[in-house]
Amino acid sequence: MRIAALVSFAFLLCAALLFGETKTAATPPMGWNSWNHFAEHVTDADVRSAADMLVSTGMRDAGYIYVNVDDTWQGKRDAQGVIHANEKFPDMKTLGDYIHSKGLKFGIYSSPGAKTCGGYEGSLGHEAQDAKTYAEWGVDFLKYDLCSYNDDLLKAQAEHPGDTNIKKNTMIAAYKKMGDALKATGRPIVYSLCQYGVDQPWKWGPEVGASMWRTTDDIDDSYGRMIAIGFSQAGLSKYGGPGHWNDPDMLEVGNGKMTADEYRTHMSLWVLLAAPLLAGNDLSKMTDEDKSILMNKEAIAIDQDPLGKQGDRLYESGDLDVWTRPLSGGCVAVGLFNRSWSVRDVSVDLAEIGFKSGGNVRDVWKQKDLGHKSGVFTDTLVKHGATLLIVSK
Ligand code: GLA
Repeated sequence: MRIAALVSFAFLLCAALLFGETKTAATPPMGWNSWNHFAEHVTDADVRSAADMLVSTGMRDAGYIYVNVDDTWQGKRDAQGVIHANEKFPDMKTLGDYIHSKGLKFGIYSSPGAKTCGGYEGSLGHEAQDAKTYAEWGVDFLKYDLCSYNDDLLKAQAEHPGDTNIKKNTMIAAYKKMGDALKATGRPIVYSLCQYGVDQPWKWGPEVGASMWRTTDDIDDSYGRMIAIGFSQAGLSKYGGPGHWNDPDMLEVGNGKMTADEYRTHMSLWVLLAAPLLAGNDLSKMTDEDKSILMNKEAIAIDQDPLGKQGDRLYESGDLDVWTRPLSGGCVAVGLFNRSWSVRDVSVDLAEIGFKSGGNVRDVWKQKDLGHKSGVFTDTLVKHGATLLIVSK
């Protein structure tokens, strides 16, 4: 049995204590991943120091639990076919033990193809063996990235020219193979599909045992790319839920190429989307502003709301956008967004989102109660700005 306690004052009204069986990824997984900052340069020392810093910065206690080693850790297979790490990672089991000793969880990366996107050893033909090895290393999270398996899909298509579903079905079978292999280890492992949203993984992800699936191609540390991904998630809310989440890719907050307002837009959108929150920054270089964005307790509580209902677009008008997310206890999270280059007013009709007699409005980024409001609520947003609200009865 598990007790999920509430983390924020704003949520005292919105939810009650939950009692329930522990479920893998009952709420969107949170943690850190090596790719967005370290990419192919990541080493064992970087990962250990990320684990240390998740603790010392307060990120772990804010909920960022998974420490995920992305691509480029893989070395060669031995004569028995067992995968070993390369010289950058002297001992994966010891690394996993270190991560666990800090109260964190250990994530790793592979591909259904022969090669990962970085050209390292994938799991093709070794799925059960690799799943067993990961379980022995104490792995708690696997990101499984299509990469070179795309060649196998093209081959399947060439062999079955008339079959319009052959690529999709072959891909689903490959993802199911690893999903079954992970299940067979008996270890709870978050299974994260990465195939860039091709063939609507939100429709078949749960069937292959996935806890989350990427809905898009890669994010990068730019406002243009981040909003292109974030706002394109409209319409997907019905596919996310406890144990199976839409994943619009990892966070770029703290990587330095967006303004604080743009990073607040990023975080606001991701928590409204019930997205997994995998920080992708250098934790040794976080500014106070980065910390205030990544560790805003009320924003995180929206993301982790026990109801697990993903938010969606309410309306869009030119560069202005309003999104809402139903929360437990009858509360609603609201995101007001200004994508334009000038200061703009953005409004939401509180009656339209279930507060006919008005509601208490809390500004999450300002950490301020705005009082009881009814009718149309308007805020003035700076360029590329976002206002994140929690409305309660
Ligand atoms: C793909 C994934 C990224 C990252 C890289 C690693 O591009 O989408 O998230 O894992 O591969 O090579």
